[in-house]
Amino acid sequence: MSQKPWEHAKSSGSEGDPLAARFVSSLDYDKRLYKHDIAGSIAHARMLLKVGLITDGDLAEIERGLSEIESEIDEQGDAWPGWKVELEDVHMCVEAALIEKTGDAGRKLHTGRSRNDQVATDLMLWLEYDGYVGIQSRWEPIMSAFVDLADKYGHIVMPSYTHLQRAQPIVVGGELMAWALMLQRAFNRISSPYQLRDFFPLGSGAIAGSSLPLDRRHSSQELGSPYWDQLTLNSESSIEGTANRDMALDFVWGLSMISTALSRWAEQWIIYATTEFGFITLDNLYTTGSSMMPQKQNPDMLELIRGKTGQVYGSLMALLTMCKGITIGYNRDLQEDKRHVFAAYDAVCDCLDMAAAIVRTTTFNEERIKAGLNRGYLDATSLAEYLVTKGVPFRTSHQHVGALVRLAGELDRHELKKLTLDEMKGVCDAIEEDVYDWLGPENVVKRYQSAGNAGVSGFEAQLASWKERLGNS
Ligand code: ARG
Repeated sequence: MSQKPWEHAKSSGSEGDPLAARFVSSLDYDKRLYKHDIAGSIAHARMLLKVGLITDGDLAEIERGLSEIESEIDEQGDAWPGWKVELEDVHMCVEAALIEKTGDAGRKLHTGRSRNDQVATDLMLWLEYDGYVGIQSRWEPIMSAFVDLADKYGHIVMPSYTHLQRAQPIVVGGELMAWALMLQRAFNRISSPYQLRDFFPLGSGAIAGSSLPLDRRHSSQELGSPYWDQLTLNSESSIEGTANRDMALDFVWGLSMISTALSRWAEQWIIYATTEFGFITLDNLYTTGSSMMPQKQNPDMLELIRGKTGQVYGSLMALLTMCKGITIGYNRDLQEDKRHVFAAYDAVCDCLDMAAAIVRTTTFNEERIKAGLNRGYLDATSLAEYLVTKGVPFRTSHQHVGALVRLAGELDRHELKKLTLDEMKGVCDAIEEDVYDWLGPENVVKRYQSAGNAGVSGFEAQLASWKERLGNS
C-alpha cells in the first residue's frame, strides 16, 4: 500500500486494515472534484509564493506537476493510476502524485493548509462552476418547452381542479403558465450561489488558521471570481469556515424545491394521461409497455420523475442530519456531504432533461377535453359573480346559485345554461336574459379580468411575459 505523506506521524490506522481504508475513503465520489482541487492548489501555491513561503522555481514545478496530473486524469478518468483507495481521497491522491513528480516543491504545497479548508474550497468551487451552472443551463430548455406547448394548445378551454374536483373553467395555457412559475421560483432559489459570496474557506487551515503569514485575499483573487473581492476578512472565522456546510444545504434545498415542482407536475400529467381523463397523450418515446399486458402505454418517465424526488429529499435530510450532531470544528461526518450533493444534483439534472423532452412532445386532446366540459357546473361561480353585478350580495348569490345547481340536477339537465330564464327567475328575480353570456365554460374563460387569471386574458399576458423573459435570456 502507498505510504500517506503524513503517516509517519501516527502509529496505526487505515494503513493496517484494508477494511478501514475502504471505509474511510471518499475517493469513489470525490474524484469528481479533481479539477477544483487542482485550481484551489494553484491559487494556494501562488499565494505561498507571494508571501515568500515558496520560490518561483517551486511554483513553476507545482504548476507543471498539477497541470500534467490534470491532463492525465482528463484522459484516463477512473483508470488513472494515481487513484489509490488507501490515500483516502482526491486531495491526497493528487498531492501524492505531485510529490512523485516534483519532490520537495510538491512537499511544500500543503504549507498552511489542511484538507479541512481544502475540501470546503473544492466543494465551493464545484457548486459555483458546476452545480449552479448545470442547473441554470437547464432553465431555458424546460421553460421554453412549457411556453411552446402553451403557444400550441394554450387556448383550449379545460376544467381546473381543487381537491381534484371540478372547480372553474380555465384555458390549458393558464395551467401551463402556473407550472412555469412554480419552476421559476424553485430555480430562483439556486440562481446564484449567494451563500458563497462571503464565504471563502481556503486559508482557514485545520481549524485555527496558521502562524504563517498567509494572504487569504490573494488566494481568493487567484481563484478569479469577482465576489471574492467582497470578502470581509475581519469577520471571517477559520473555525466556522471549515465547520459549516451551508452552501451544500442551500443548494440541495433548492434542488428539493425543483423536485417538488416537477413531482407535482408529473402527478398531474399522469392523471391527465389516464383513459379516464384522456386530456393529454404522451409521446411513445416517453411511455413504456408492459411485459404482460400488450395494450399498455405506461407513463414510467413521469412516474420516475415523481419517484426520484424521494432521493433528492433524502439527500437534504442526510445533509441536515449530518450537520446537526457535530461539534463546531471539522468532523469526518462532513465527508459524506459530497455524496449527497452529487446524488441530488445528478437526479435533478436527469429529471429536468426528461421533463423538458416530455413537455416538448405531449399533445393536448381538445376534442376529449371539450366532450366533458359541460359536466360539473364549472360556470357556477361565474353565475354568482353575474348576480353580484346585478347588485346581489355575494353570500346571497352563492345561495341562489346553489339552489339553481340543485334544480338543474332535479330536472335532469345538469347544466346551468339548460335552465330557462323563468326557471332561473323563480330562484332569483335579479337574473335577466344576459345571464346566458355568463354561462358555459367558453364564455367564462373570456370574462376573467383579475391580474394573473387562468382564463384568456391572464394566460395571454403571462405567455407574453414568459416569451419576453426567454427572448432576453
Ligand atoms: N475527504 C475528506 C472530506 O471530504 C477530506 C478532509 C479530511 N480531513 C481530515 N481531517 N481527516 O471531508
